[in-house]
Amino acid sequence: MPLLIGIPREVFPAEKRVATVPDVVEKLIKLGFSVAVESGAGDAANFSDDVYRAAGAQIIEGAAQLWAASDIVLKVRAPSAEEVGLIREGTTLVSFIWPAQNPDLMQQLAAKKVTVLAIDALPRTLSRAQKMDALTSQAGVAGYRAVIEAANAFGRFFNGQITAAGKVPPAKVFIAGAGVAGLAAIGTAASLGAIVRANDTRAEVADQVVSLGGEFVKVDYEEEGSGGGGYAKVMSEGFQQAQREMYAKQAREVDIIITTALIPGKPAPKLITADMVKSMKPGSVIVDMAAEQGGNCELTEPGQAVVKHGVTIVGYTDLVSRLAKQSSTLYANNLFRLTEELCKTKDGIIDVNMEDEAIRGLTVIKEGNITWPPPPPKVSAVPAVPAAKAAVVVKPKAKGHGKGGEPSSPASMAIMFAVAAGLFWLIGAFAPASFLGHFTVFVLACFVGYMVVWNVTPALHTPLMSVTNAISSIIAIGALVQLAPPVADGLDRPDTWIRWIAVIAVALTAVNMFGGFAVTRRMLAMFRK
Ligand code: NAI
Repeated sequence: MPLLIGIPREVFPAEKRVATVPDVVEKLIKLGFSVAVESGAGDAANFSDDVYRAAGAQIIEGAAQLWAASDIVLKVRAPSAEEVGLIREGTTLVSFIWPAQNPDLMQQLAAKKVTVLAIDALPRTLSRAQKMDALTSQAGVAGYRAVIEAANAFGRFFNGQITAAGKVPPAKVFIAGAGVAGLAAIGTAASLGAIVRANDTRAEVADQVVSLGGEFVKVDYEEEGSGGGGYAKVMSEGFQQAQREMYAKQAREVDIIITTALIPGKPAPKLITADMVKSMKPGSVIVDMAAEQGGNCELTEPGQAVVKHGVTIVGYTDLVSRLAKQSSTLYANNLFRLTEELCKTKDGIIDVNMEDEAIRGLTVIKEGNITWPPPPPKVSAVPAVPAAKAAVVVKPKAKGHGKGGEPSSPASMAIMFAVAAGLFWLIGAFAPASFLGHFTVFVLACFVGYMVVWNVTPALHTPLMSVTNAISSIIAIGALVQLAPPVADGLDRPDTWIRWIAVIAVALTAVNMFGGFAVTRRMLAMFRK
């Protein structure tokens, strides 16, 4: 019997998103599920009941009836107390939960003997999990909308113009924090023609800032800013002082500041002081995307747009809801990808496989048992740095660092080299000459391959895999050799049928080669402006 996926209307004040959209309803039905949508669930995101019905969903009046009928509930916001009351035993709930911040909710849900997949608990650094990463899709929407809000509150153009009526300088925008939301804001502001600068404590984002059309502004203080898993950490007092000085200078120069800086599990760092706000030009704008977590600006009022010292400070906490159709569509796609992972058999039945690292990370309650936090992830977006070292000011880089930033001792390096040299001598002395040629090529290939892969940032490993796949089609050369026509030069030529097989081989590898490069181009385009 296929399971029924239920989509309730969001009850959180001012929440306009909905957990699935009509296009995705069709895809869920193709996976074998039945879909029911609470009447009016999509209204605020411009998806009417009729459109859901046309896509194959059943429309149910009233939350109580919807929750009672559903085997799986897809939601956006964590359930309210009333919604927890409606959920029936054995249901699987997928939504944002924030288990660390909501221990009471976790207990209430566990008592209901349900299974809960918290979309915010996805191990984001797993390449395979990117398609389900709702934090990223929603942060991208928020970053875009922050720029639109800034443009709305700002009294000038973003781009510079020379017109008969006068010369307009381009707006200068400073983005504090270049995570997913910050990068989206950089791309949007740059595409509107503004001069964009950005800063982040994680130095590895500098290239991404530049690739999106921004300029990375460094803090004049050396300190590693990564706290593991691709996230930031609280910086030392010395760094914060140097950062404040740099931010104060930017505040005097720029017209718009968009702040996105967050540290998981900690209040948002206060980066923009009241004095900095005072020093900004009248008519300037600050959009504080961290408002919900306390704000990056001292004068932010969460949920409000206020004018202080002539500067408009926008502290909206519903930026994503202000683009409800877009954010709902992306969120629905994330949840569809997750449902696909849960239902590999495509028969409308789900299997919450705790052996799967992504599913294990997401599952915070399994049949009434709290399974959060999960075991530490095996993959990290950045090389792990021991905590003690991370807090210390970075000294000039020592050569010969091993994995994880630990320097390899000179003695062990010397032993390794001696053993390798001995092995090579043995091979050189005793192996047949024909083997030696192949062996040399093999060793060089290993060396070049190692150097190439090791120096690529983990975030780019997926495009790297596709380009490697394309390059592997070099075997086409073997097939091309076989294509040579028979000529009277005394050399052996392949039979006609071998040449036809070679033609097929060339055609197939060409698909792989050109397809591989095309896919890589598309993936790399996601990192560009
Ligand atoms: P976030 O929302 O927790 O933080 C936003 C940004 O604020 C981060 O870039 C952080 O470094 C920065 N920040 C924190 N404190 C700061 C300070 N005092 N001054 C300046 N900047 C500060 O992070 P988000 O956007 O959710 O993700 C952060 C990173 O995680 C991404 O940029 C990416 O590198 C990584 N990630 C990797 C994924 C993957 O490998 N598949 C998927 C998603 C994220």
